[in-house]
Amino acid sequence: MILVTGGAGFIGANFVLDWLAGTDEAVVNLDKLTYAGNLENLASLDGDARHHFVRGDIGDRKVVDRLLAEHRPRAVINFAAESHVDRSIHGPEDFVQTNVVGTFHLLEAARAYWGGLNATDQAAFRFLHVSTDEVYGSLGPTDAPFTETTAYAPNSPYSASKAASDHLVRAYHHTYGLPVLTTNCSNNYGPFQFPEKLIPLMIHNALTGKPLPIYGDGQNVRDWLYVADHCSAIRRVLEAGRPGEVYNIGGWNEMPNLAIVHTICTLLDEMQPDPAGAYARLITHVHDRPGHDRRYAIDATKIDRELGWRPAETFATGIKKTVRWYLDQQGWTANIVSGEYRQWLTTNYGDRA
Ligand code: NAD
Ligand code: DAU
Repeated sequence: MILVTGGAGFIGANFVLDWLAGTDEAVVNLDKLTYAGNLENLASLDGDARHHFVRGDIGDRKVVDRLLAEHRPRAVINFAAESHVDRSIHGPEDFVQTNVVGTFHLLEAARAYWGGLNATDQAAFRFLHVSTDEVYGSLGPTDAPFTETTAYAPNSPYSASKAASDHLVRAYHHTYGLPVLTTNCSNNYGPFQFPEKLIPLMIHNALTGKPLPIYGDGQNVRDWLYVADHCSAIRRVLEAGRPGEVYNIGGWNEMPNLAIVHTICTLLDEMQPDPAGAYARLITHVHDRPGHDRRYAIDATKIDRELGWRPAETFATGIKKTVRWYLDQQGWTANIVSGEYRQWLTTNYGDRA
């Protein structure tokens, strides 16, 4: 079996669902259930004996040691993190606690467990750390995309904390020989993404007639990857990646934010027209994100060349599926936006107008 951390969040839940749709290998899912963790994402696994959910913190050695000893996983896949850049600007401490200190404790637990395995199991064991392209910093309009050897230059408390965790993971391989793999992926979108992130936020705001807040001029560029493609890349790296190596994962799909939002508006105009007029009328420019990285772009040649992985979705197909999913699952979003989410909107958007 495998131990997944953060498997009640956006990417982790998609990963667990896809994993169990493709294999009978069981999953222990350790998640703290922060505001971003949502058991509703995993509701389709209710009663499935292959999925064992445990509420807990990756930084809690007692819990992690117990899970490793009891379940004897062949791999740990670490999705658990504080993941939202804007929240890291308003409150960086949780990011240091979970992303840096939590990853450190998880690595220590994995090292102790791995050290006690027999030689065959040691050789087969993997610690796969899920990271982000944001650790490489910001690109100019004509700069070459990030490769695995691009120097780290994180600019937000979020990306700095992820960079720190990547360095720890690397060090545990170099120093102790722990068979680690690190993946650095671009912006994901798809089902179950918390509506604080650009795409689900825009869909939710449009459907509820609220302004669509574009930070700055809306020309910041991101590379966008459908979440199922990220999950298939992680499975491939787990299966065939070389221990100690880093793999960039991306969609070969750079787009400015404003173009993303216009695409969403056009799809909504087709799928659920608003009698009040085209959704694009709601687009509103607001104060920029402090330290806002201008452009990210991923060179995903290595994972293609070495492991034969490429994304299956184009942005056109992925975004259509995504908008359809949010239209069909408005109850899922409604359950989220009724709680702590309201306070977050005031904190983040209150003084941007
Ligand atoms: P998310 O915020 O949706 O989910 C994070 C999950 O981790 C939640 O379920 C939360 O409850 C859990 N968690 C938080 N702190 C924890 C702790 N201390 N112990 C155990 N569980 C904890 O995040 P996401 O978007 O699904 O991202 C998952 C991972 O992928 C993160 O490591 C993130 O840095 C990375 N990543 C995300 C993207 C993206 O576009 N979303 C892109 C590249 C990499
Ligand atoms: O690049 C990978 C990263 O992508 C992941 O590591 C992060 O976990 C994930 O949150 C994401 O970070 P971003 O900051 O790029 O994603 P976000 O959806 O917050 O913002 C995408 C872009 O849209 C960014 O340029 C900021 C802009 N934006 C965002 C929001 C929430 C707006 O213009 N308005 C908004 O209201």
